[in-house]
Amino acid sequence: MVQMVKKGKFAGRAILLAGPPGTGKTALALAIAKELGKDVPFVPISASEIYSTEMKKTEFLMQALRKAIGVRIHELRRIYEGKVEELSIQQEPHPYNPFVKVPVGGTVRLSTKDSSQRLKMDQAFATAMVRQGVEVGDVIQIDPEAGRVVKLGKSKEAAQKEGYDLSAVQVVEVPTGPILKNKEFVYTVTLHDLDVSQARAGVSVVSLLFGGEESKEISNEVRRTVDEAVKEWVEQGRAEILPGVVFIDECSMLDVETFSFLTKAMEQELSPIIIFATNRGVTVVRGTDFQSPHGIPLDLLDRMLIIPTYPYKRDEILEILKIRARAEKVNLTEEALNYLADLGAQTSLRYVVQLIAPASELASQQGSKQVTKEHVEQARQLFVDVSRSVRHLREFEARMLK
Ligand SMILES: Nc1ncnc2c1ncn2[C@@H]1O[C@H](COP(=O)(O)OP(=O)(O)OP(=O)(O)O)[C@@H](O)[C@H]1O
Ligand SMILES: [Mg+2]
Repeated sequence: MVQMVKKGKFAGRAILLAGPPGTGKTALALAIAKELGKDVPFVPISASEIYSTEMKKTEFLMQALRKAIGVRIHELRRIYEGKVEELSIQQEPHPYNPFVKVPVGGTVRLSTKDSSQRLKMDQAFATAMVRQGVEVGDVIQIDPEAGRVVKLGKSKEAAQKEGYDLSAVQVVEVPTGPILKNKEFVYTVTLHDLDVSQARAGVSVVSLLFGGEESKEISNEVRRTVDEAVKEWVEQGRAEILPGVVFIDECSMLDVETFSFLTKAMEQELSPIIIFATNRGVTVVRGTDFQSPHGIPLDLLDRMLIIPTYPYKRDEILEILKIRARAEKVNLTEEALNYLADLGAQTSLRYVVQLIAPASELASQQGSKQVTKEHVEQARQLFVDVSRSVRHLREFEARMLK
């Protein structure tokens, strides 16, 4: 699955992880998220989250889908870059407050290893220089079109001259080549980020004046504008689309409306991979009175690739217990481990994983550095598993409150 996602081959399709509780569905999704790397978006949601009152269900899902599509934008910008050799800022008294001086202009001389150039600045750039705290010896970037000055750090020589042993300032190399150059900037945003900024840009005057009108929902029009802009960038070779993953856990909590919304969304042009997980068998589809496998309508089910998960066998449980014990820094003896694994095969993986903590607590109370089989047995006496709990209920049924 990771390979398919990375190659972008699987966009707009869905996978269902189906299996009994405790068979590693959620664990698998977390593993996928880690392996995808940080550039591919992974948006985990639990189906119950869609029933929040702040937003329509479909809006919540739409935002999740669009958060899962990354857009990698390449931008070629013409910038000045170099080490500051000289900096002079002309200051004049502020027109309204003569005690404060403000920059009105200035000059800066930048150098690289190969060349040097003097630039005359207007008030805006002089102010930006002062604001960024640019000093002689800093390496800076100036983007004349965007009116931006960025301080990259201190040049090596300047840092050596100051001679601090401890300094929070980043030390950078002096660049080579010409001062004015074309430089490519690459950054990744999601469709949702673009939607939000587009929606902000188009805030109506009415809502600015009267406030309170700003809604958390994003209109279709805004989304269409963003889609069109992105498509244009892709055609011009300025951007790439990175379809990511939306993971919907406990998907039998979704209702028939949201299932049909998702079915439609999957067919759209820009769509991520959706991974569903469920532990339900044949059950009613929420919001209807008909039954369906996993509580998912058949038409959607038909479009999914289904991956079944099976209960872990004894040896697999043993392996997971070893991992858990290492993660929780608990030292289990070989005997204790095997005892837990046998117990896990009879009861459940979750139960034995949960026994590790109380067993280790008992061990430390008794002054033992290792957790032995006896400690696990004691923990087992104190904390029962489901079937023993049910037996207990039956036994004392008459005396429990109804
Ligand atoms: N392959 C594995 N390696 C390490 N730990 C695992 C592995 N598979 C499962 N686990 C652990 O087993 C426990 C149960 O797994 P998980 O929560 O993924 O089950 P699930 O299939 O999502 O169950 P449910 O249907 O109840 O949500 C978790 O504590 C998980 O960390
Ligand atoms: Mg789960």
